[in-house]
Amino acid sequence: MAPVFVASVVRWQRTHGRSELPWQNTRDPYRVWLSEVMLQQTQVSTVLGYFDRFLARFPTVAELAEADEDEVFGLWSGLGYYSRARNMHRCAQDVMARFGGVFPQRSEDLVTLPGIGRSTAAAIAAFCFGERVAILDGNVKRVLTRVLGFDADLSVAASERALWNAATELLPAASERGAIESYTQGLMDLGATVCLPRKPNCLLCPVNDVCMARRQGTPEAYPVKTRK
Ligand code: ADE
Repeated sequence: MAPVFVASVVRWQRTHGRSELPWQNTRDPYRVWLSEVMLQQTQVSTVLGYFDRFLARFPTVAELAEADEDEVFGLWSGLGYYSRARNMHRCAQDVMARFGGVFPQRSEDLVTLPGIGRSTAAAIAAFCFGERVAILDGNVKRVLTRVLGFDADLSVAASERALWNAATELLPAASERGAIESYTQGLMDLGATVCLPRKPNCLLCPVNDVCMARRQGTPEAYPVKTRK
């Protein structure tokens, strides 16, 4: 199942996935970080305008680090979840102070920065530096639990850990150069456009033939989460 799944996601991303967003086709971790934090709780269509304005005002991590916090909040105004803005400012200052103004390349270092959780660290490391590391945001949890028929309760920490391990085992082989970038973006795009929370578009899904939830006829039952 794994090799077929990975190859299908990669192929689908390259032909049907999103490829012209302003934070794609770059390996600049500053741009990718900015986009990933904005996209954590906000849709692509909303992020587009904010991303351009933010980048125009703060073209580099050094300029963001030097900024007045009120101005950062001003540019964030309307995006919500304002702790993200405060953490971004702190993260920029941390990159200057601890990493000499250069974003670290490894996910294990990225995750030590304010506002960068495990999945965001992995996305930055995969997109910018080709690191083979799993992401697991809300959309990707839905895709993977459905494909795997993973029915353990994700409110339970041990189940969440088990899903992280399963996501790691599914990654493209190290020998497949360039696959991790397309695979990572493909999982995100599938979750956002095809494998929807309600009424998923299974007929259009590139992995419908290996999906456990589809075989069971109950994709909407996943992910299982009793709390939150
Ligand atoms: N959501 C989080 N990261 C994303 C990305 N890189 N592209 C599209 N949606 C996303």
